[in-house]
Amino acid sequence: MQTDSSFTFVLFGGTGDLSMRKILPALYEAHRAGMLADSGKIVGVARHEADRAGYIEWVNGHVKPYVSKDGLDEAVWERFLARIEYVKLDLSKAEDFVLLRDAVNKLSGTRVFYLATGPSLFVPICHALASVGLNENARIVLEKPLGYDLQSSNAINDAVGEIFAEEQIYRIDHYLGKEPVQNLLALRFGNALFEPLWRREWVESIQITIAEELGVEARGDFYDNTGALRDMVQNHLLQLLSIVAMEPPHSMDSDSVRDEKLRVLRALKPIDPRDIQRVAVRGQYHAGVIRGTAVPAYATEPGVKKDSTTETFVALKVEIENWRWAGVPFFLRTGKRLADRVAEIVVNFRPVPHSALGPTALRPGANRLVIRLQPNETIRLYCLAKQPGEGMNLASVHLDLAFDQFFRENQMEAYQRLLLDVINGRLALFVRRDEQEAAWRWVEPILNDWAAANKAPKPYAAGTWGPAAASAMLAQHGTCWLEEEN
Ligand code: BG6
Repeated sequence: MQTDSSFTFVLFGGTGDLSMRKILPALYEAHRAGMLADSGKIVGVARHEADRAGYIEWVNGHVKPYVSKDGLDEAVWERFLARIEYVKLDLSKAEDFVLLRDAVNKLSGTRVFYLATGPSLFVPICHALASVGLNENARIVLEKPLGYDLQSSNAINDAVGEIFAEEQIYRIDHYLGKEPVQNLLALRFGNALFEPLWRREWVESIQITIAEELGVEARGDFYDNTGALRDMVQNHLLQLLSIVAMEPPHSMDSDSVRDEKLRVLRALKPIDPRDIQRVAVRGQYHAGVIRGTAVPAYATEPGVKKDSTTETFVALKVEIENWRWAGVPFFLRTGKRLADRVAEIVVNFRPVPHSALGPTALRPGANRLVIRLQPNETIRLYCLAKQPGEGMNLASVHLDLAFDQFFRENQMEAYQRLLLDVINGRLALFVRRDEQEAAWRWVEPILNDWAAANKAPKPYAAGTWGPAAASAMLAQHGTCWLEEEN
């Protein structure tokens, strides 16, 4: 559906990696699908290119390879380029913001300022926008990481909040834009079937994994000062957890959904520093082999300190202190250079209370729901069935829902959905300040403990599933990670 409103989309960091790989390709896809108002304009803002011609050349050279993998229609691409304007801007020069204002004032529609820059630039850019009156009737999009800890994230939010009202601020967590994450809401709140079972009486444990095969790529410098807890847990994993565990919202409007997520984040059992060894595992990859290719150790990646103690893997046991979930362990896990690229949620239901059919029915995980978010979105419900033949032997079988077989249309990329939401003023899939604070508050004791200990994380070979301690943590609860079954 085309946006009804025109827009002016101003992209700071217009020649950065994110603009190249995600934002401009997503805008192109929205354009190609006819979802952007014809009069909508994109204004690239950067320091490097001298003028529009230079910027268009950069877009042609750098962005084109990332769009429409199934063939690019040159005419459509040309029309996309026609939407693009450019402003060369040096952040330290007030007069450059005057030029930006003049350029933007010539254009019509909803104003969006997308800050695809490092977080240290968020506040200066907001101040400079306000100094030329560009904060009025505008939306501002902030990319993660938003801060380094609770204090620095509060400092950014306070400063940005003096210039933009909360309803003008769109904090991106791209996981919230993924189709399968949307589907999780549909599964939970569009079907009465699961709801009665979705609670402590029937659920034994839940696992949420985001595993990557990739290492730190060209981002060693950034990553080495960040680590997996800040990069993935504080945001993506805790957002997924809050969607899995939230109460049914009253409606899908932005605050109803975000209020319910916030309740979960606030109900996370605080981590007692004395318990951290027991409930948190941190690892760092060493050299190894992934799908037959040798890959180097994290500490030898460009930009990474040789004696780095930054974690590239985290596994956590989390508890939620409310009636629905008290006592149910949620195991969260993420890591780079793991054996597979997979993001999935595993809900292990309790076994039958008494088995007349032998011990198989008493096995943990005999009934389990596996929601695979990527790759190949599927939902799989495991049950026990009788094996054909003599006797009563039970075997695990599953019901499968493969989305690509049901729906032929292409999935919309997360960024495409989120950018359209910004343009159309829909806040539901963006993180509200209080959610973000609650998430930082919860991870803070772990961050502090790890920083104080300054100990090397547990090593794991690239191409494995992380340190053995992550398995031991689950074993204490009589369970194991999904891939360890059998
Ligand atoms: C980003 C992290 O937010 O998410 C990256 O900064 C990570 O380190 C990426 O690789 C994973 O996203 P996706 O969509 O590829 O699972």
